[in-house]
Formats: sequence, C-alpha cells, structure tokens
Amino acid sequence: MQVVERLAELREARSRLADPLGFVPTMGFLHDGHLSLMRQARDECPSVAVSIFVNPTQFGPTEDLTAYPTDLERDLDLLRAEGVDLIWVPSAEEMYGSGYQTWVDLEDLSGYLEGKYRAGHFRGVATVVAKLFNCVQPQRAYFGQKDAQQAVVIRRMVKDLNFPLEVIVCPTVREPDGLAMSSRNSYLSSDERKAATVLYRALSAARDQFNHGERETAKLKETMELTLASEPLARSEYASVADPETLKELSGRTEHALLSMAVYIGNTRLIDNIVVGDL
Ligand code: PAJ
Repeated sequence: MQVVERLAELREARSRLADPLGFVPTMGFLHDGHLSLMRQARDECPSVAVSIFVNPTQFGPTEDLTAYPTDLERDLDLLRAEGVDLIWVPSAEEMYGSGYQTWVDLEDLSGYLEGKYRAGHFRGVATVVAKLFNCVQPQRAYFGQKDAQQAVVIRRMVKDLNFPLEVIVCPTVREPDGLAMSSRNSYLSSDERKAATVLYRALSAARDQFNHGERETAKLKETMELTLASEPLARSEYASVADPETLKELSGRTEHALLSMAVYIGNTRLIDNIVVGDL
C-alpha cells in the first residue's frame, strides 16, 4: 500500500496501477460503511485507490469543518487490512491554492433536499469530486446510498461532463439497531446515541406502510413526521418523499419514492434514507 500527499507523487503511483482502477473518495475517520465501498471495489477491480480529504468547500460557515473527526493512523491501518493499493491524502493548499476560482455547480439537483438547508454544499462536493476524478483517473468510482442526493448529483455530473468512468452506488451499512453508520455518530452522547435510532424507525415505519399498500405520499410523510416527533431528543429539519431520480418532492400517489430526512439529535445533524418501490 502506498500513501502519497503530493499530486505529482499521486500521478506517478497511479500510472503504475492496473486498469480498471476502482476509486473511493472519503473524508476519513473510516467506519464499516466506508470499508464496504473498498471491499466492493476490491472485488470488482484489479487495483483500488482511496482519497482522504476533509473538503472545506462543502462545509457551510456554521457547520462542523473544524470539529470534523480525524484519525489518519487508524484509517491507514484499516485501509492496509482491506488491501487498498494507493491512498491519496492531499493538502487543502494543493486542492485549493491561492486564486482558486473554478466550480462545478448543478442547476437543479443541488437545490433540493439537503441543498435547501446546506447552501453551497453540493457545489463543494461536485467540485472536489471532479478534481479528484481528474487527478486519480479511475475507471470506476464507488459511493454510498447513505448520501442519496450526493450519488444522484455525482452520476449527473459524470454524465454531463463526460467523465470516462462508471459510478457504482453501494447499500447503506447500518449498526445492529438500524442507525446508519456515519463519522458524525461519534459526536453523540450515550442518550443521544439511543435517540438516533429514530431516523431508521421513522423510515422503516413508512417503508412498512408502503409495503402494505399505502401509496399516498402525504400519509408516508406523516408517518415519518409522527415517529420523529415521538423522540424528545430529536428535532426534525425535513422529512421528504421525493422522486429517486429527479429528487423533486412527490405529491398524490406514487409507486416508488426516496424517503429521506435530516434530523438534529442534540447538536448533531444526521441524515438517512430508504428507497421504496420499483425503480
Ligand atoms: P464521507 O462522508 O467520508 O463518505 C465517503 C463515502 O462513504 C460516500 O460515498 C458515502 O456515501 C459513503 N458512506 C458513508 N456512510 C456510509 C454507510 N453507512 N454505508 C455506506 N456508505 C457510506 O461523502 C463524502 O465523504 C464526501 O462528500 C466526498 C464524496 C468524499 C467528497 O468530499
């Protein structure tokens, strides 16, 4: 396993890796959700590269950039155990040197769901992922369904900007009690950690209702909202029933939907989602 920081070193190391190269971009503080992407890449590709970069441009001014958890030594041990070939840990200086001014912005997809509450977030994500793709030059890139909108945004960007690679979206990995794994779960106190299961409980309640024949989007949304309201430590930011591809909010009846939500548990903002119905 080779660990590189400078772009020139990355290019040199990448050129010696066999194609197709599978690539997993991350912000580090790795957990089993991240590792599931590396495992799928390892299964499907002769070589695997991972980036670890806490991308400042996708955090809003009041968000948790400076508090974002890091543990590079632990991350590198985990990646070594997964048989990853190349790790790139770029500096913010290398990614966004002085005078930086080029951005990737998606007209509509960035504005729905998370985009409504995190202005500029997807501009930061799309820009850094485009830059990472240009530098690493993978043939396959792996993302998690946990960040459903991010996956839709990246797929669209890859198509629109003609990146010669395939985007693969892997299932959400959960704790035994259903909480979706997230680096941000480390912020939770033990009471908050128990309360945080409310996201999956709310999503599962709506999914069960859908599976029992409920097709009214308003009912599915109400079920999520009622479940969230029953948890005293939770403050819901939104609960949404949206089209899984366009991300537009649905109304009336539907045969498929992206059920998603953002919820504050104490000061920690968590997101989760489930897709129901046929795609
Ligand atoms: P990060 O939050 O570190 O996540 C890296 C990848 O792991 C993303 O594709 C995310 O969807 C996936 N992931 C996180 N939790 C998961 C879980 N419980 N199950 C399955 N996959 C999971 O997402 C980012 O970083 C950044 O926005 C990034 C794409 C690296 C751009 O900066």
